[in-house]
Order: sequence, then structure tokens, then C-alpha cells
Amino acid sequence: MDAKYLVSPSDRILVTGSSGFIGAKVVETVLEYGFTNVRCFVRPSSDLSRLKEILGRSQRGDGVELVCGDLLSRNDCEKAADGVSVIYHLAAGFDKSFAGAFMNSALATRNLMEAFMQHGEPKRFVNVSSFAVYSNLKLKRGAVLDESCPLEDAPQERYDAYGFGKLKQEELVEEYGNKHKLSYVILRPGTVFGPGKRDLSGRIGIDTFGFFIQVGGSNLLPLTFVDNCAEAVVLSGLKAGVDGEIFNVVDDQLLTSGQFLRAYKKRVKPFFSVRIPYALAYWVCALWEKYSKWSKGQLPPAFNRRRCAAEWKGNRYSNRKLRERLGWRPRVNLDRALAAFLAQFQSQES
Ligand SMILES: NC(=O)c1ccc[n+]([C@@H]2O[C@H](COP(=O)([O-])OP(=O)(O)OC[C@H]3O[C@@H](n4cnc5c(N)ncnc54)[C@H](OP(=O)(O)O)[C@@H]3O)[C@@H](O)[C@H]2O)c1
Repeated sequence: MDAKYLVSPSDRILVTGSSGFIGAKVVETVLEYGFTNVRCFVRPSSDLSRLKEILGRSQRGDGVELVCGDLLSRNDCEKAADGVSVIYHLAAGFDKSFAGAFMNSALATRNLMEAFMQHGEPKRFVNVSSFAVYSNLKLKRGAVLDESCPLEDAPQERYDAYGFGKLKQEELVEEYGNKHKLSYVILRPGTVFGPGKRDLSGRIGIDTFGFFIQVGGSNLLPLTFVDNCAEAVVLSGLKAGVDGEIFNVVDDQLLTSGQFLRAYKKRVKPFFSVRIPYALAYWVCALWEKYSKWSKGQLPPAFNRRRCAAEWKGNRYSNRKLRERLGWRPRVNLDRALAAFLAQFQSQES
């Protein structure tokens, strides 16, 4: 292990959201880095199959401790954070309601940070956030969206409870960093894909009207393969000299939404889809938003200009900071990543 890392292999590491799509991969990566004192936080209702499979095939899997609880409980957070040096915080609220997203993303994070400061031996708190916090409304199509891009200032108008929860979560983490000197790093992954996640990204189109509407097609997706994302998460907990920094996580090689959809249709299943250009989608979203306001919410503002821009405008993305400051390199190239993503559908069918 690199001598310049903040922690040594026997220091205790906590991973929240460890039963999830990215969290389980983070656990696997932490074990590959040689950590011997790893604790995974899970809920009583969590499906542990993904995590157990990973622990089963890792040489160090037997030594991993599972702590069961809910981050909404302060007591459970204290159990989880006891004696911990680094927290990889991936648990998040995906609730459709703003209150639910706020609870599971922001309140859970506050409880965890409090417990970390009181019962842990804090060296670094890694907060896994999301591209959902950005607003590209004023960014030109094709312009680079990087860490300096403005944040969404009206998540309610965007009708995005998840993004709202993530914004509040980031605010809290920064507050704990500034007021209580908690060492933290915030990561903002783009669209994470890989085996274990079967859905097509909403950035490709809309699947809510009985058939698939592809929006645009030439827009790049901010893809990061789950192994590459997990590598970034783990490194950000270990590297010295990056306290308080924010990193976008996207891979080197990206696909346009059209390329991704074509590969999916070819290898998974062909299906009927209608393609509409971005300009038309923007016009429909603006109209929908107007009608929703005029009808005082009779129609929820599920489609609106902010969401349209965030999902389909088509920007370029940069991982320069991640490479330069964390020394991150993708573990898996695009060809292998796409093949691994598509292979999960074949293995289910056969
Ligand atoms: N997937 C993406 O494309 C993407 C992109 C950008 C950022 N991210 C971020 O990456 C992180 C992981 O995402 P994911 O895709 O791996 O999601 P996931 O598979 O849904 O995992 C989320 C995890 O959070 C846990 N959790 C939620 N509320 C909790 C609570 N109150 N107490 C304890 N655990 C709780 C869930 O537990 P249960 O299993 O019990 O439900 C689950 O293990 C999230 O912070 C997400 O915002 C994901």
C-alpha cells in the first residue's frame, strides 16, 4: 500500500450503502487494496446477495464485519462509526418525495458525521454525491461540464427530489468540514453502469408513455463503469492533500446516447422507439412546465426545462481533476465495460 495514504491497512473502514450497486463494488475494491478491518453497514431489509457474492469470492471476505441498522437512527450510526478512520458514504435516498430524499440523503448523513466525530477516529469522510446537483441551464450545448459548473438552485422546479437530497447532503458535508474541521471529499459520479444495473439511463430517453422516446442521440453520456467509479471512491478516501475537494467521476471514453441505445437494442432486445430532437423536447418540456404552473399542479411538472437541459442537452465532460489530483486511472476500458454490462442480459436468458 502507498506510504502516502492517510491510513494503514489495519485501520477500520466503514462502507455505507454496501449492499447497493456501487457500494458492493467499493467493498470489493477496499479489500483488494489490502484493508483487513472493513465494516459494511446494511439495513435489516437489505438484499445482501450482491455483497455476499463479493465477500464469498474475496480472500479477505471472511473478516468483514456487517453492522445492521438504519442511518436515520443515531444509535445505529454510533455503532457503525465506532473506531472508524475512513467512511465511504454511499447510502442515499432515491425516494420520489422531497421529504423522503431529504431524510435518507441529508439527515442520514448528518447522523453519520456526528457519530463519526464523536465515536470514530476520523481521517476522511467520502461523500458520494452525483451529477444531479449541477445545473447546465446556462451552459451551451457541447460546453464542458466540470467541477466549476453552477449547482442547481431550483430543484423543486426541476421536480427532482433525488437531486434536492444530494444538494442538501453536500451542504451539510461542507458545513461539517468548515465548522467542525471534518476532513471530507465529495465525489460526483455521472451515469454509473455495469453488471447489476439493468435499466437504461433516463439520459437516453423517456419510457413512461407506453413506448420509448429517444431524446436527441448525439448527446454524450457521462458514463463511468462501476469498477472505475469504485476505484475513484476508494482513492478519494486514501489520498492526502485533497481535503474539501470535489471530483467529477466520468470515464475516459464515452458513448453518445444513440450509440448506447443501438448497442442495447442489438444485444439485449430490439424494441420500438421514436426519436425526437432536443429542440422539440425542450419546447414540449417548456409547454408542460407552463401548463403545470397554470393548472396549479393538476399535471405535475415532471417535464420541465431544467430537467430537459440536465438530461438531454448534451455537454462534454472532464475527468482531468480526478486524474491529476487523485491519480485515478480507469480499471476497465469502454469495450470491456460495455461488454460486461450487456453480458448480464445474456446470462439471465441462458
Ligand atoms: N447509480 C448511479 O448511476 C449513480 C450516479 C451518481 C451517484 N450515485 C450515488 O452513488 C451512491 C450509491 O448508488 P447506487 O446506485 O449504488 O444505489 P443503490 O444500489 O440503490 O444503493 C443505495 C444503498 O443505500 C442504502 N440506504 C438507503 N437509505 C438508507 C438508510 N436510511 N440507512 C442505511 N442504508 C440506506 C440502501 O440500502 P437498502 O439496500 O436496504 O435499500 C442501498 O444499499 C448513492 O449515493 C447515489 O446517489 C449513483
